[in-house]
Amino acid sequence: DITPRVFSGVQPTGNLHLGNYLGAIRKFVALQESHACLYCVVDLHAITAQLVQDDLPGQIRSITAAFLAAGIDPKKHIVFNQSRVSGHAELAWIFNCVARIGWMNRMTQFKEKAGKDRENASLGLLAYPSLMAADILLYRATHVPVGDDQKQHLELTRDIAAKFNFDFAERIEAAGLAVPITAGEESTEGYFPITEPLIEGPATRIMSLKDGAKKMSKSDPSDLSRINLTDDADAIARKIRKAKTDPDALPSELDGLKERPEADNLVGIFAALAERPKADVLAEYGGRQFSEFKPALADLAVGILAPISAEMRRYLADPSHIDAVLKDGAERAGAIADATMKDVKDIVGF
Ligand code: ADP
Ligand code: NA
Repeated sequence: DITPRVFSGVQPTGNLHLGNYLGAIRKFVALQESHACLYCVVDLHAITAQLVQDDLPGQIRSITAAFLAAGIDPKKHIVFNQSRVSGHAELAWIFNCVARIGWMNRMTQFKEKAGKDRENASLGLLAYPSLMAADILLYRATHVPVGDDQKQHLELTRDIAAKFNFDFAERIEAAGLAVPITAGEESTEGYFPITEPLIEGPATRIMSLKDGAKKMSKSDPSDLSRINLTDDADAIARKIRKAKTDPDALPSELDGLKERPEADNLVGIFAALAERPKADVLAEYGGRQFSEFKPALADLAVGILAPISAEMRRYLADPSHIDAVLKDGAERAGAIADATMKDVKDIVGF
């Protein structure tokens, strides 16, 4: 049978922000209690949008430091960077031959990131979801915690697993590698699991502080649009003070947040940070002005982020520990990956 296992990754490009923390890293920490987890710095993905990166080694260390500072335990679980385990690229190639071009062309993230000049986007940007499927399935991961923005990519991972299982069904069976697979209600047999996304909970999509229609993102050119994990208390308070809002007071009911995306986002951030329902936050702050709510939100954010950022700086001051964690993680991830690649090569016929 397939061991329940969690895999997720974060790209080493730009500053980690509150969206990454609430939508991903905080969930990674929580899942450690119940699952065997692999957390990966996905550096092969980093060169899809921009080939030449500034200080990739520093960026990789910085994401690793954030993982450790947030509370991920690299002894009980596996923390590593993708390019050190060659199975990711190898399996992605096979998946490039499983996936159809039409599947990739439908990905909204590709359309957004490629922009108008699609013909000039890298082939890697188009094939990105195939590499992501390889990241997950190399470990036959059963669960992937991610933000809502990755939902479509995860569906594609499931499609790739299902097509591989279907196309190679006889060979999987003949090699004695068929195991029970469940996809929703259905049970079948196959080699790869049909991975479940873990997207539920609050803060699945934190929006920009400057534009309630855009998600908070590392790649947004405006630094005021996001709270970085490394921002100090002053910067956090300033960004929240300058966050876009409307002139009305906060509503006391959830219904009152409809058509007020910026207010909804700030209340959502408060609720997620405080681990309280939004309705509860509105019961407390309903009728009050943003001039009162924003300082409370800033205090809450500083209280949670400042210790993480201090701990990150401590790790980064002496990177030898981080480097040792990554080396050990790559060895342990590599052992699982090698076993999968051996099976996959048997199945394909290499
Ligand atoms: P970004 O989209 O900022 O470049 P990544 O693609 O590296 O960040 O995403 C890392 C993780 O953070 C993913 O699980 C992603 O779903 C999550 N994430 C990114 N942005 C947000 C957001 N604004 N709200 C919630 N989760 C997010
Ligand atoms: Na993303």
